[in-house]
Amino acid sequence: MRYGNHTQVATFNGVNMSVDNSFQLSTAAAESYENQKVPAIFAPLAKATLEAIALPENGAIIDLACGTGIIPRLLTEHLPGKGRIVGSDLNPAMIEVARRTMPETGHSVDWIASDVADLPCEDGEFDMAFVQQGLQFFPERPAALAEINRVLAPGGKLVLTVWSSISPFFQAVSDSLKQRVSETAAKQAVGPFSFRDGDVISSLLGDTGFTDIAVTQLLIHRPISPVRSATRAEMLASVYEKELRAKGDAVIEAVIDDAIGVLEEYRDGDCLMIPQETHLFQAVKP
Ligand SMILES: C[S@@+](CC[C@H](N)C(=O)[O-])C[C@H]1O[C@@H](n2cnc3c(N)ncnc32)[C@H](O)[C@@H]1O
Repeated sequence: MRYGNHTQVATFNGVNMSVDNSFQLSTAAAESYENQKVPAIFAPLAKATLEAIALPENGAIIDLACGTGIIPRLLTEHLPGKGRIVGSDLNPAMIEVARRTMPETGHSVDWIASDVADLPCEDGEFDMAFVQQGLQFFPERPAALAEINRVLAPGGKLVLTVWSSISPFFQAVSDSLKQRVSETAAKQAVGPFSFRDGDVISSLLGDTGFTDIAVTQLLIHRPISPVRSATRAEMLASVYEKELRAKGDAVIEAVIDDAIGVLEEYRDGDCLMIPQETHLFQAVKP
């Protein structure tokens, strides 16, 4: 790495000034992400991804937009040899949780609080880079991918997942929000699925210097259980939370009714099993 200890929150603030702040999270939000979203969706996705790819022996691997570090955590079980693992995320709160929940192993582990488009890393420092459901949130995608390309060694691989279709759960919530809350809230509910065209992503990878671009699809199922309270919790852990709460309890309950009403086909007892499809891209730095 080019300089100092980037796991310190203070080093992050300068970076933070230059980026879109819309994804800044509190420690409580990072904890709730780790306790709710990671077991429900991001851990199963990380496992499916690691089962679908080959990891480099004794490799140096960076996980970008690592969130609370599910990929680095699972890498300690999957990475052959000793290897080096680095997790990096824009949000210091995510990095704090990631550092705390990482098991002690023989791997060398570092954490960086940094914008993906400006990494404090040397050219060619890594054999593999992961981005699990991060690309859609980057304000400058070409700059981010060019920076990832820079820190990969020649022959190094990028492993990237991006949702390839809109989750029926979030579509149902969005449709109701459009009627009962606002167009903005409706858009925000499906925001994580807004950038999903595989051809566009492939072109972007090619334009930023990657070759041997291959894409497959992974399908995972996200449990929403118990149905009513988990639907409410999901909506109240969202970016449109304040706007929704301002509408009052009757509207919140009505949105829950609307959404659950159109999701019956996914019901298994007091659980909705929601299918979510993702692109899994692998691309090589020549
Ligand atoms: C949906 S979460 C995915 C987190 C993690 N990869 C996982 O699978 O749990 C998206 C992550 O992207 C991070 N992020 C958003 N914009 C970023 C940027 N410009 N640079 C680095 N990370 C960013 C957020 O802080 C958040 O942790």
